Amino acid sequence: MRALVAANWKMHKTLKEAEDYLRRLLELVPPDPPVELAVFPSFTALALASEMLSGSPIALGAQNGHPEREGAFTGEVSMHQLADLGVQYVICGHSERRKIFGETDEFVAAKVRAAWAYGITPILCVGETLEERRAGKAWEVVERQLSVAIEGLSGPLVIAYEPVWAIGTGVPAHPKDAQEMARQIRAWLSAHFGERGEEVRIQYGGSVKPENAGEFLRLPEIQGALVGGASLDPESFWRIAQGAIGGRPSE
Ligand code: PGA
Repeated sequence: MRALVAANWKMHKTLKEAEDYLRRLLELVPPDPPVELAVFPSFTALALASEMLSGSPIALGAQNGHPEREGAFTGEVSMHQLADLGVQYVICGHSERRKIFGETDEFVAAKVRAAWAYGITPILCVGETLEERRAGKAWEVVERQLSVAIEGLSGPLVIAYEPVWAIGTGVPAHPKDAQEMARQIRAWLSAHFGERGEEVRIQYGGSVKPENAGEFLRLPEIQGALVGGASLDPESFWRIAQGAIGGRPSE
């Protein structure tokens, strides 16, 4: 299974900065890279990114999408509108959206369903807080997030395991813990969806950097990474992607 290495820009970059970034990334990435790369700009840069990435090996993703097709939802952008722009992936249930914007598991489930309905692959984010991990409840929390968000597997899916305490802190999970969680997620997928569950890619996210990317990307249970801070520079993002290829990430 080809790994998916994703650059979640979060709320960063003006149009000019986005353009400079994408131009550089397009220079760095060969026509047929051994890992799949995807970039997730802010909504303001999506149209530009869609144009610049079209025909390139780099996929386009959105950081969020509303499940309704259209309507009175001031400030929202629908999956339908994202599909219209050529968006291929959408992040659903990122912990920042759950925590800061109060997204529930049920709302995340609606997003996952809507993404499939419009032909977009959801990247479902799951992960426990530090308190939940310390209380021995990490799997319980992740299992609840999975079982509410994925009632049926109606399309291609990516799951990003992102322990909340590792996001943006500079302190990643221990690769052994990430591996163990990914193994449990995989077992859950197989139990619920049989062989179709095997097609789901499981990413690790949380303080992935060029220096540690290989430790996660070469784990047998992990097929990619969702990268925030260290993806904001194209050289750094490309070095992270190379961590999936084997050998030392190039300097
Ligand atoms: P980080 O963010 O790489 O900055 O820790 C990861 C994420 O939120 O997806």
